[in-house]
Amino acid sequence: MKILVATQKPFAPKAVAMIKDIIEQAGYTFALLEKYADVEEFKAAVADADALIVRSDKVTREVVEAAAQLKIVVRAGAGYDNLDLEALSERGVVAMNTPGQNSNAVAELAIAMMIYMSRAQFTPATGSEISGKTLGIQAFGNVGRLVGQKAAALGMKIKAIDPFLSDEQIVAGGAEPVHSLEELYADSDFVSIHIPATPQTVGSIGYDLISKMPKGATVINTARAEVIDEAGLAQVLAERTDIKYAADVAPGNISQLQEEFGVRVFATPKKMGAQTAEANINAGLAAARQIVSFFKEGNTRFQLNK
Ligand code: 3PG
Repeated sequence: MKILVATQKPFAPKAVAMIKDIIEQAGYTFALLEKYADVEEFKAAVADADALIVRSDKVTREVVEAAAQLKIVVRAGAGYDNLDLEALSERGVVAMNTPGQNSNAVAELAIAMMIYMSRAQFTPATGSEISGKTLGIQAFGNVGRLVGQKAAALGMKIKAIDPFLSDEQIVAGGAEPVHSLEELYADSDFVSIHIPATPQTVGSIGYDLISKMPKGATVINTARAEVIDEAGLAQVLAERTDIKYAADVAPGNISQLQEEFGVRVFATPKKMGAQTAEANINAGLAAARQIVSFFKEGNTRFQLNK
C-alpha cells in the first residue's frame, strides 16, 4: 500500500519525518513528491498510490484519472476548494480534510497583519494601535474564533457573523453577533475574513461592503484570494484613501494595487498562513493518522464526499 505525500509547498522536514514514521509503522510504503515542476510529475507520482496527502495542491479530474489505485485523499488543512470532489466521488475515492489542525497559525498571521497594517508596514509613518478598535470576524469557525480570542486579549472589541451559528454560539465564542455583512463592515475598524471559497462566496466581497467601512479601516484576508472582487477592491482603494487591504495570498491585480496604493496594500508572496512547523505537524500527522485509521478500521470521520 503506497501513501504519497505530494506537496508543491513542502511540510517542515520534521513533519515529513513524523508522517513517514506513522505510515511505515502501520506497515505501508511512504512516498514523497515535493516542489514538483508540473501536473505531469504529480500524475506520474500518484499513478500507483493508494492514498494521497496534499496541501493546497490541486487534485483535479485529470489528476484523479491518473490515479488508478487511489482510495483516499486527505487535504492536510481546512479549505478543500483544491479537491475536485465530483471527480473523486465518481471514482469512489474518499476525500477528507483535517479541520482545526492549522487554525492557530492562520489566526496568528491575521493578528500580525492587523498590527503590520496599523503601523504602515513598519515604515516610520505614524501608525495607530489595535487596542480599543472593533474587529469584525466574517465566519466564526476554527480560525475566526481563535482570531477573536487573541484580538480580545489585545484589547479589541469583537463582533462576528456566521450563517451556520446561532447568536448563543457566537456569544459563547466571545463575540457580539452581527446579523448582516453590511452591518459587520459598517461597524468594524478591521474585518478579518475566514470564509471558504465556494461558488457562493467567490467574488462576494467588493466595493459595496468595503466602502461601508469606517475611516481608516482595514480588511484582512487570510482565507482565499478568490473571495475578493478585485475590481471592486481597486475601486474602493482609489476612492477611499484611508482604507487598507492585507492578504494571504495576493489577488491577481496585486502589482497594480501596490503600485497605486503603496503601504495601504500588502500581500504575502506565497500562501503562508499555515506555514509553521507546528501547523505542519498538526495537519500532516492528522492526515497520516486518518489514512491509517481509514485503511485499518474503515474510519470515515472527516469524509467530505459522503
Ligand atoms: C487551509 O485551508 O488549511 C490553509 O489555507 C492552508 O493551506 P496550505 O496547506 O497550502 O498552507
